[in-house]
Amino acid sequence: MVRVGHQNLPSLNEDSDGNGMRLHKYYFENLGGDGVFPKAGKLDRLIRESFGSYEDWLKDFRASSLMRGIGWVALYQDTKTGGLFNFWINEHDVGHPAGCNLLLIIDVFEHAFMIDYGLKRADYVEAFMKNINWKEEEKIVR
Ligand SMILES: [Fe+2]
Repeated sequence: MVRVGHQNLPSLNEDSDGNGMRLHKYYFENLGGDGVFPKAGKLDRLIRESFGSYEDWLKDFRASSLMRGIGWVALYQDTKTGGLFNFWINEHDVGHPAGCNLLLIIDVFEHAFMIDYGLKRADYVEAFMKNINWKEEEKIVR
């Protein structure tokens, strides 16, 4: 049974397909920007506190996105501590950290890049990074 919740999306007690739909919605909402990270603001401060610098965060996020396997890589915010961390998820509906705020997510299932990039997954990740809409991420961070 499909129940419709906020913004006409399936409720979270839905199966893998429902959660996958939500993740894809977040993925596309990440995009449409110029990829330029704002070097001021709350997100910048939290990135520096959690990773040392934006460049260190980027290095870790890129490396996570290029790990062997398929799934998702997310930048999450722990709502208890405010801290940020990158997180590998290999299923739509399993392995998401409880109590965390999803800030940024990249789809690294093969269907996300094979048509345009073939085996050049790193090129896909770079294209993603160049199109992040950081202004929207700044609105989401707490
Ligand atoms: Fe996907």
